[in-house]
Amino acid sequence: MSKLQTTSVRASIFTVGIIVSLAALQSSGKTQEFGDPVQGAILTQKICSTCHGVARGEASPNPAAPNFNHIAGIKGMSATALNVALLTPHHQMPNLILTSQERADVIAFILGLKEK
Ligand code: HEC
Repeated sequence: MSKLQTTSVRASIFTVGIIVSLAALQSSGKTQEFGDPVQGAILTQKICSTCHGVARGEASPNPAAPNFNHIAGIKGMSATALNVALLTPHHQMPNLILTSQERADVIAFILGLKEK
């Protein structure tokens, strides 16, 4: 196979991979109505932990960002309140965009940090 052909085959395998994972994401979004706290933990570790302390008692790398268990412990904190917070442009991070499933996962994780 010529070098050019190899490159275009690779490119189409890559494209198919993206389409397959997008389809998987979409279908999981449809079947799963409630947030998955384990997914939420992975997501927050990946996206939010540059600023927020994610685990219970973990100090926030950005002192202006409250630790998630602090947020969870705020009186009256609810899934609705967190949903609003996550749909509102974020301090220092206006482009924080999560899919509705990701939001549900993150919220399930944060609310799970509430002291029982
Ligand atoms: C670039 C730093 C940064 C990142 C990344 C970040 N945050 Fe924040 N966040 C902040 C700061 C600073 C505050 C406190 C000031 C404020 O509320 O604007 C905050 C406040 C919050 C609040 C309190 C409610 C509110 O809007 O005031 C929630 C909930 C929150 N963040 C969730 C998240 C989640 C979930 C992620 C990841 C998906 C995330 N943040 C990623 C910096 C960040």
